Amino acid sequence: LRALAIASEMAPFVKTGGLADVVGALPHALAAENIELRTLIPGYPEVLGVLHAGETVLEFEDLFGGPAWIHAARHNGVAIYTLIAPHLYAREGGLYTGPDGADYPDNAFRFAALAWAGAQVGLGALDEFAPDVVHAHDWQAALAPAYMHYAERPRPATIVSIHNIAFQGQFPKELLEPLRLPPRAFDIDGVEYYGAIGFLKAGLQLADRITTVSPSYAREIETPEFGMGLEGLLRARADRVSGILNGVDEETWDPATDAHLETRYDHWSLPSRARNKAALQKRLRLRVDPDAFFIGVVSRLSWQKGLDLLLDVLPQFMRGRAQLALLGTGDKTLEEGFVAAEAAHVGRVGVHNGYSEELAHMIQAGADAFLVPSRFEPCGLTQLYALRYGAVPIVSRVGGLKDTIVDANEMALQADVATGLQFSPTTAEALAIALREAERLFGDAETWRKIQVNGMRTDVSWRNPARRYAKLFEDAVAANIG
Ligand code: ADP
Ligand code: GLC
Repeated sequence: LRALAIASEMAPFVKTGGLADVVGALPHALAAENIELRTLIPGYPEVLGVLHAGETVLEFEDLFGGPAWIHAARHNGVAIYTLIAPHLYAREGGLYTGPDGADYPDNAFRFAALAWAGAQVGLGALDEFAPDVVHAHDWQAALAPAYMHYAERPRPATIVSIHNIAFQGQFPKELLEPLRLPPRAFDIDGVEYYGAIGFLKAGLQLADRITTVSPSYAREIETPEFGMGLEGLLRARADRVSGILNGVDEETWDPATDAHLETRYDHWSLPSRARNKAALQKRLRLRVDPDAFFIGVVSRLSWQKGLDLLLDVLPQFMRGRAQLALLGTGDKTLEEGFVAAEAAHVGRVGVHNGYSEELAHMIQAGADAFLVPSRFEPCGLTQLYALRYGAVPIVSRVGGLKDTIVDANEMALQADVATGLQFSPTTAEALAIALREAERLFGDAETWRKIQVNGMRTDVSWRNPARRYAKLFEDAVAANIG
């Protein structure tokens, strides 16, 4: 079976979040299931810097305002198509926002182009590769099923995956024709969404199958609390929706081989983990205290992640012998809040507002517990890394966090299956109670070690998820009368 993925980011080339990790991991994961997955991504400068060898396989004379072409390359055995369109992607700034932090004004065209190019590949434009399935990730790729639908030609099966429903790609209805959508597409059964054009909505409406990245999130988004306006559509198409958990890249995230660490370890050599704790404390200029209850955070700082709640409870939490390491960027108010907390708790709170792959690994290996207090979380990857690294996850009971962490309740402790702590609802009060409970469990060294070992032994690989994607692709192809 052959599949084309379409996505706006892909590790190791460009990454703003977990989407890139997942898109980067899927080709290898699915190869093990006999699926040849090739991936189409935009030719941002940082991508072209790495993927220059290769050849042009398709040209577009005019793709929304300029010439464009698809370039085929290979990287570590993975086939990658880059859409080169200098008028759309050769920019200073981020993937989605300019140097001023605002969305690029032409984002509708930047990502419609990606979806359009992917749709052409889906419809058979390449001699070398005709996919049986087109798999579009998030709103940036979600118009691809729509373009293929309105082309009214034999087409491959189509799948849209939701990584974050908070971003939907909504644009004025006047763009319908410029976006190469036919007038009849502006309909409740098409791309129309609250009087505008909805990219994600269109994909969810017109794709054969919909996935999201955890079973719990798949159910949550059918409710107004989590569906962000799309709950009605998702309820109506519930038989097409499934939740498949993300896996972890086991090579990048392995404490036994991780080059970023002071000391490498596994669950047989847990005591040597203490050296990584000391190294992290030194690196963040915290008091080197082997007995401090040290919690770590690595996160985008946004409302979704609930870290404002941590700021709320910090004064109370810091009354004990606790320490905090936080790595994150985003919301300026939150960044300032944590910098102020660092100043208020010298030697006990260490904050780095920036992006650092190395520090992310050091925190996983050095902190005793790892906190993810999200208000919503489609899957979440950092709590999976924490499981592997023996940093006991403390998570809110939502989405993928709920599905991946076994709460240390009485029965789970008795059965020796606990891997972390869950709390609910996502409020400062519930978080404060969870932190207190975690600190109490930490004080019981034997119980704590068991929770760590259970986590480190949990299978968070891509094996199971890959099998589920493979089954889904096969079912979609079998049902596709295209
Ligand atoms: P989301 O995609 O919603 O941000 P995930 O947990 O799925 O959440 O993925 C986040 C990814 O980004 C993880 O790989 C995490 O380690 C990484 N990450 C987030 N913030 C930083 C940072 N400041 N420095 C380094 N890595 C980060
Ligand atoms: C999104 C979600 C996160 C998920 C990631 C990869 O960024 O916020 O929960 O893990 O996508 O699927």
